[in-house]
Amino acid sequence: MRVLLLGGGGREHALALGLGADPAVTHLVVAPGNPGIAQGAETRAVDATDPQAVAALATDVAADLVVIGPEAPLVAGVADAVRAKGIAVFGPSAAAASLEGSKSFAKEVMAAAGVPTAGARTCGTDAEVAAALDEFGPPYVVKNDGLAAGKGVVVTGDRHAAERHARDCGRVVVEEHLAGPEVSLFVVTDGEAALPLLPAQDFKRIGDGDTGPNTGGMGAYAPLPWAPPDLVDEVMATVVRPTLAEMRRRGTPFNGLLYVGLALTATGPRVIEFNARFGDPETQAVLALLDTPLAGLLHAAATGTLADHPPLRWRPGAAVTVVVAAAGYPGTPRTGDPITGADRPGVIHAGTARSADGRLVSAGGRVLCGTATGPTLAEAREAAYALVDGIGLAGSQHRRDIARAAVEGRVPVPPID
Ligand code: AMP
Ligand code: GLY
Repeated sequence: MRVLLLGGGGREHALALGLGADPAVTHLVVAPGNPGIAQGAETRAVDATDPQAVAALATDVAADLVVIGPEAPLVAGVADAVRAKGIAVFGPSAAAASLEGSKSFAKEVMAAAGVPTAGARTCGTDAEVAAALDEFGPPYVVKNDGLAAGKGVVVTGDRHAAERHARDCGRVVVEEHLAGPEVSLFVVTDGEAALPLLPAQDFKRIGDGDTGPNTGGMGAYAPLPWAPPDLVDEVMATVVRPTLAEMRRRGTPFNGLLYVGLALTATGPRVIEFNARFGDPETQAVLALLDTPLAGLLHAAATGTLADHPPLRWRPGAAVTVVVAAAGYPGTPRTGDPITGADRPGVIHAGTARSADGRLVSAGGRVLCGTATGPTLAEAREAAYALVDGIGLAGSQHRRDIARAAVEGRVPVPPID
């Protein structure tokens, strides 16, 4: 099988490692890729949000399967253009990717499907924002209605900050605040059949103890030792199957990776958000544990044959990934700094580049991830931090508390009322 993977971040490096390890894959091309990916795959330049350019590249490399990593190409209609060439694609159509591309659309689908989620109001004026903030009260949750690379959400007790964010965004969704630990559940689907991966937890804020601004994600681990044993079955029944059925009913079946972001609240699991692609950095942890060949799984979803796919196999133990971010992130990151210690197994590249003289330098906000597995979560955590501690990057930042509360049995899961 010849595979073309689109993207060039940490998620794509993890996907490339998984695809490259599948014996069915004879050739892997990643566009645009990054210096870490380039060590194990052919990389090609492409404008990933140009549907015709990607479709032409897929034809040029004779791809049997195209896997789309990031959300922007999905929302731009890249999957539609590649499918129109008769090539199998793992990734939803532009219409189905609206589950991620528009927060208000996702809320509409959830309401129609009876999916438990936060109450929400879509607001376009200051008066509508003020009324919604009054209705839900603090802490205030204000979300940019469109794509914002994980940084369009403000959760704050400060009314002025909430109003300011709404004004900066224009159209926003104001939400009820959901209290409880967060879970990321990834579901591989062909629109009808659906296979959940191991649940993971992401760390969204820049600082230890969940302080500071939201980021794209500073670390993750899987599985979740504290999750109720029936959590995945419950989410499949109350969230995933009704949502997939509603998308089919609308004539826009969702084919690809449905990322369900949940809060485990006192009234049960409720959806915080949907994404239309693998999460970053949860993918780095989850795929480190997947034993089932990845290309075969994604090809089955892309070709509507997932119902015939064998059950997923997982390696025992746990996986932890810790993100090393550049100075300045999640604001404007400092780039061009030399990186050392990145050429060890488990170091996943995200925002890296080669300088003119061939040195590895930083080139984005999230620069690298240290990803490790272990027989226990504590051992996986130690191994991930050993990788991170061996990375040299001036001014870099990383959290010291990824998976710590879980190792110490301190994740507060509320009892269901
Ligand atoms: P989103 O981009 O929708 O995932 O939001 C980013 C982060 O903001 C989430 O991972 C949560 O930590 C937080 N958040 C979003 N919506 C809510 C909500 N309704 N209640 C509590 N926290 C939220
Ligand atoms: N880790 C959060 C995301 O991928 O959106």
